[in-house]
Amino acid sequence: MSQRVLVASNRGPVSYQFGADGSLNGSRGGGGMIAGVTDGLAALGPEASVTWICAALSDADRAVARSQETGSHDEGGIPVRMLDIAPGIFDRAYNRVANSTLWFLLHQLFDTPGQPRFDREFRRDWAAYLAYNEAFAEALAQEAATGDGGLRVLIQDYHLCLAPRMLRDRLRDQLGGHAGEARPAAAIGHFCHTPWAPPDYYRMLPDQVGRALLDGILGADRAGFHAERWASAFMDCCAAVLGADVTRTGLAGPGPGPVGRVTYRGHVTEVAVHPLGVDAAALRERARAGDVRAHAGALRRSAGDRKLIVRVDRTELSKNIVRGLEAYRELLTTRPQWRGQVVHLVFAYPSRSAVPEYRAYTDLVRQLALEITEEFGTADWDPLILEVKDDYPRSLAAYALADVLLVNPIRDGMNLVAQEGPVLSERGCALVLSREAGAAATLAADALLINPYDVTETADALHRALEMPDAERRRRGAALAATAASDPPGRWLGGQLASLGPGS
Ligand code: F6P
Repeated sequence: MSQRVLVASNRGPVSYQFGADGSLNGSRGGGGMIAGVTDGLAALGPEASVTWICAALSDADRAVARSQETGSHDEGGIPVRMLDIAPGIFDRAYNRVANSTLWFLLHQLFDTPGQPRFDREFRRDWAAYLAYNEAFAEALAQEAATGDGGLRVLIQDYHLCLAPRMLRDRLRDQLGGHAGEARPAAAIGHFCHTPWAPPDYYRMLPDQVGRALLDGILGADRAGFHAERWASAFMDCCAAVLGADVTRTGLAGPGPGPVGRVTYRGHVTEVAVHPLGVDAAALRERARAGDVRAHAGALRRSAGDRKLIVRVDRTELSKNIVRGLEAYRELLTTRPQWRGQVVHLVFAYPSRSAVPEYRAYTDLVRQLALEITEEFGTADWDPLILEVKDDYPRSLAAYALADVLLVNPIRDGMNLVAQEGPVLSERGCALVLSREAGAAATLAADALLINPYDVTETADALHRALEMPDAERRRRGAALAATAASDPPGRWLGGQLASLGPGS
């Protein structure tokens, strides 16, 4: 049977830029979700027929969207349909609702004496989020109407919480309102790449908004999360906020698998955990390329034979870069023996600069990095190297050289850095990992777990990691790499598709 799959996400696998001569140049979209879905789709093989629906994010994307008749193609050959959503709607839905409200809520980032504030302006933002989700549901329903059945739909992330319900309603309408008597035209999955918030925090949302988001996801046949903790918080919200009927089955091991069912408005949604790891073979192959080797040589020359503490992140509030820098400062203050012996490589790449909090956070990271350099630097020792320009091959080179990898998010759906680092590390790296990352569920046994708010504990863990005996570091590093490799994107995506059945 042909495997017909539709993917829907805000950011797509390709984005366009205008060249100097006005031509359109495509490049691969970034981020963990894109990497997971793209690699997962590749593993399906040629018999799968896939269309990926995404938003046009830039003027160049919009030009492509307007000129598309049957879809453009990304670099890997996946047909992509870009939606030209009106810029005003897109800005409110993406920047204000998804990034400034839902992201902050799900990662528990609000500075609550002043935030959030749900006023009349927010109601306009919310109306835009509805329109944005409608645009996706409409495009998905159109695609569903053209096929000959066997369709599975994978809707990604917090941008598209309402789309599953909106799509289900449209599919029912396509059947003339007789969904109970005829097979629906598609099986629908929703996957959230972020954490989920517990009910007490979630209830900060206006009641109608909080209910609509949950009801929207419950339009799916299956709701997926990276970790059991997030799936469990989602079910808690369904019970507390909607009064839905929740049955918990729990997970036998670290996943993947179902953890419960939510029955609401006569429909059952299975809630499941699918941890996302890395394609270790492909990653190692990429790291052997000349550009990565050249960066490794340059980094080694800058650091000399000193030990390296590496971090690689988007400059993202949830990544907790500032407390990470404070912990490094505390390490150098309380353990002067490391002065001159260690270099902290901090790769903090630009993200979401349309959101004011992100711009302020970026300034804070730069300021703190400068202060550490001024406080401890000497004529022949730079304690910290901060790089703010995104450079994927340089990141891979840093993983290869790392003695210690610092991953200390306040909260994180999964975290790929914590998995890519050990896979590429040449001598085995010690991983200092926040217990609030989804990846802690799978990596806890071999990482040094920390409370991300505790700067002193983080400094202590950096010290333990630096002085870890070689044999222990190698053993832990190998175990971390093996765990990361055990949930490759093909398994992650394939497991979700299998759970949706053959499609309807
Ligand atoms: O769910 C998190 C996520 O979608 C990741 O895939 C990615 O790292 C990040 O958010 C990308 O965010 P944006 O598309 O806003 O840059």
